Amino acid sequence: LSDGKLIEWQGKTDEVFSTISTSENYQRTLLGTVPHMDKTTALEVLTSACNAFDKGKGLWPTMKVSERIACMENFVGKMKLQREIVVKYLMWEIGKSMPDSYKEFDRTVEYIEDTIEDYKDLDRNSAKFSKKDGVYAHIRRGPLGIVLCLGPYNYPLNETFALLIPAIIMGNTVIFKPAKHGVLLISPLLKAFQESFPAGVVNVIYGRGREVAAPIMQSGRIDVLALIGNSKSAIALQDQHPFKNRLRLVLGLEAKNPGIVLPDADLDLAISECISGTLSFNGQRCTALKILYVHESVQDAFLKRFAEKVDALKFGNPWEENVQLTPLPEPEKPAYIQDLIDDAKQQGAKIINKKGGEVSENFIFPAVLFPVTKDMKVYQEEQFGPVIPVKPFSDIEEILEEIADSNYGQQVSLFGKDIAELAPLIDTLVNLVCRVNLNSSCQRGPDVFPFTGRKDSAVGTLSVHDALRSFSIRTFVASKDN
Ligand code: G3H
Repeated sequence: LSDGKLIEWQGKTDEVFSTISTSENYQRTLLGTVPHMDKTTALEVLTSACNAFDKGKGLWPTMKVSERIACMENFVGKMKLQREIVVKYLMWEIGKSMPDSYKEFDRTVEYIEDTIEDYKDLDRNSAKFSKKDGVYAHIRRGPLGIVLCLGPYNYPLNETFALLIPAIIMGNTVIFKPAKHGVLLISPLLKAFQESFPAGVVNVIYGRGREVAAPIMQSGRIDVLALIGNSKSAIALQDQHPFKNRLRLVLGLEAKNPGIVLPDADLDLAISECISGTLSFNGQRCTALKILYVHESVQDAFLKRFAEKVDALKFGNPWEENVQLTPLPEPEKPAYIQDLIDDAKQQGAKIINKKGGEVSENFIFPAVLFPVTKDMKVYQEEQFGPVIPVKPFSDIEEILEEIADSNYGQQVSLFGKDIAELAPLIDTLVNLVCRVNLNSSCQRGPDVFPFTGRKDSAVGTLSVHDALRSFSIRTFVASKDN
């Protein structure tokens, strides 16, 4: 989609294979193809976004707020009609369970509708006059310019749109590159974008990052890099920009969120939250619990029941009933997880659940590893998949030190009964990460709450409310009292 037209692609294409196999001899099914764009096409797409934004040429940034809202309402209405097909793609392309796929779609619709409402409030409250020393100022929130958006494969719809929608509604024009896995599910929505927004406001590129995103950054025309994914890609793209100081960043990156089980924790609750926290969507969430710290006084009781519950999880295709573990979209992931397991075992950890590490096709059954130490790769790396490191502790100070030393700072889950007694600990933790979850697993939602992180976990804040601010700047017209 570029300059309001759906390009009839004649060039090279990339094949998209399913995550799921229905054949007996495991083989991914060819689901479709997407354009393999090159630098020339990418720069044409950039020109389209620039023309729609630049002074005198475009309508979008100067359009009335009510008109921009009408375009967005039109879009969300058309998007709702594509629910079934998008959900099918979510299941086939990334292996997300059926209930979670519906949830992703519905949550995205709600995100858009909430953004529209919040934008109305923002406009009402920010379009105001101030007066000081005889100067009147009419202050509003205006767009930043051209936004390059890249979303992740684990939420190819929801998280891409969590960047895209606030950027668009604030009057920016956008170029977005769908995630490698989850690329096809955008296709049913292209027409809705085309029919709802003026030409050039929403543009889509496909292809390799270095062939299409890099030249767009090199042009120096990108005002905001909005990316949810890994720091390596974010840094590589920033490095391409010739005027780095001009570039604004909205980034959601890695995390290694700890779950801390204290001696007085309700173990049933802690176990069930740690299961969903570590293994929802097979652990492929930036908010997943990626390490568990369990107090040594409860470690035996916790581990026994936790391991049994992990083994009882059902693996299957996304549409099967009560399926909790599904195939992995990244073909290299099982081998990577196996490597983390082998490394931990060589350094003295054991797999404490019976099925841990069993491989079937493009899936590896979650392994619970205990006791994990700082030298192990599974301690150091963001596994983003089905393996659960557990580290025993005797003194909470050890853990605070580890969290303070970590490169990440997104969230923590704390399991304990006496919240009043825990208050000083909670106060300390909330200054090391951005969200402390009491007796519940880590998560991004509800989407009206701020979603951010310290250190390498995020730049800027996403949420319905915060994202509108992240993608805009306060501008004003000043006049003298004369
Ligand atoms: O991958 C990171 C996501 O933002 C996680 O979102 O907590 O709603 O699964 P979630």
